[in-house]
Amino acid sequence: MIEEILRKKAINVLEKNQREFSGNLYTVPSPETYPHQWLWDSCFHAIAYSTFDIKMAKRELKSVVNRQFENGMIPHMNYWDNTQKFVDIKWGTRDTSAVTQPPLVATAVWKIYEKDKDKDFLEEMYEHIRRFHKYLINYRDSRGHGLIGIINPDESGEDNSPRFDSLLELPPKHTMEENFSKRLELVEKYKACEFDTHDCMRMLFWVKDVPFNSIFVSDLEYLAKISKELKKGDEEEILNRRQVIIDAMRKRMFEDGLFWSIFGNSHEKIKVRTWHFFAPLYAGILNLEEAQKVVYLLKDEFNCKYSVPTVSKKEESYDPNVMWRGPVWMNVNWFIFEGLKRYGFKKESEKILENTKELLNISGFREFYNPETGEGLGAKDFTWGALILDMNMEQ
Ligand code: GLC
Repeated sequence: MIEEILRKKAINVLEKNQREFSGNLYTVPSPETYPHQWLWDSCFHAIAYSTFDIKMAKRELKSVVNRQFENGMIPHMNYWDNTQKFVDIKWGTRDTSAVTQPPLVATAVWKIYEKDKDKDFLEEMYEHIRRFHKYLINYRDSRGHGLIGIINPDESGEDNSPRFDSLLELPPKHTMEENFSKRLELVEKYKACEFDTHDCMRMLFWVKDVPFNSIFVSDLEYLAKISKELKKGDEEEILNRRQVIIDAMRKRMFEDGLFWSIFGNSHEKIKVRTWHFFAPLYAGILNLEEAQKVVYLLKDEFNCKYSVPTVSKKEESYDPNVMWRGPVWMNVNWFIFEGLKRYGFKKESEKILENTKELLNISGFREFYNPETGEGLGAKDFTWGALILDMNMEQ
C-alpha cells in the first residue's frame, strides 16, 4: 500500500506533464528537460496510468505506436511539437528518432487489459506489437544467433552506462560531454549508413545487452498472453521465440552464475558490473538457486542506504551522482521489484518498495537519486516515480 499523499503526487506529476498535439495525447517525462515522447517512458506511464486512468493509459500507447516505421521499428522519440526546444539533434529523421528503445509495449498493454478486459484495445495494439517484435527479430538478429543487438547505447535506455565505455573507447572516468559526443558520432555514422542496421551499423556498435534481451523475453511472454486471449493462433510461435532468446542468453552470456552483455561477431563479454545482473530475474530466466546467488548481490556490492544503485560500488566507474553510472532510477527499481516478487523474495522486494517510497518522499519526483544520500538529481518533475502506483506486494 502506498500512502494517499504519495499516490496523489504521482498522479499529479503525470497529469501535469500531459500534452496534446494534433489529436495525440502523450506525457512528457519532464517539461523542462525532456519535452517529447519517448518509447519506454510511455510504457512506464501507461503502466502507472492503468491504475487510475485507463483511458489515458490507452491514449499514451496509441500515440507511441502512431509513428511506427514501415519496417516495424518503433522510434525511441516522437517529436510531436517540433517547435519545442530540445538539444539540437534529431537522432536521424525529422519527426522521430531513428533508433529504438527496450520493448515494453506488450507489457503495458497487458497491464491495462488486466484491469478492464477490453479486447478491442488488445486487438488494436496486437499488430503494432507483433510488427515491432518481428522488426527486432529480423533486423536486430539478422544472423539468427537468437539475441537482439542494439546499435547505440541510447537504445538500451541507459545512455551513458559504463557497460558501453570500452566500445566507445572511453575510460571509466570521463565527462558527460565526451560521452554524449561519442553517442552522437554513432548517430552520424548511422545516417551515413543510410539507416542500414544489419549490413553497416553492426560493424560500428553491436551490443547484445542483457536488459534489452531480458525485457524482450518478458514482452514476448506478455504478447503470448495477448495472442491467446485473441485466439490468434501464434502463441506457440511467440513462446518458442522467447525460448530461443533464453537459450542463446545462456549459451553466450552466462558465466559463473552471472549474465554479461556481449558485443561484436566474437560475442565477447563486457565485464562491467551493473544492475543488469538482476534483469534476468525480471524475465524469469534463472532457476531458484541461480536467483538466490544474484539476489545476494543486493546485500553486497549493490548495498547502499537507498536501493538500488545502477552500478556496483566495486566498479571504478561508479559515481553516485552521474546518470546511469551509479544513481538509483525508478524504472530499475521497478524491474528488480517485479523480478524479486516473481521469485517470491518477499523481504528483499519489500525493502525496495520501502526505499522507493522513501526516496520519493524525501526528494520528490526526480530523474535519478544519489544512492548514498538520497538526494534527487537530474531532471525535475520527472514521471518515472509514478511507477510506484504499480508497485504493491500482492501477487
Ligand atoms: C534519458 C534516459 C532515457 C529516457 C529519456 C527520456 O535519455 O536515459 O532512458 O528515455 O531520458 O526520459
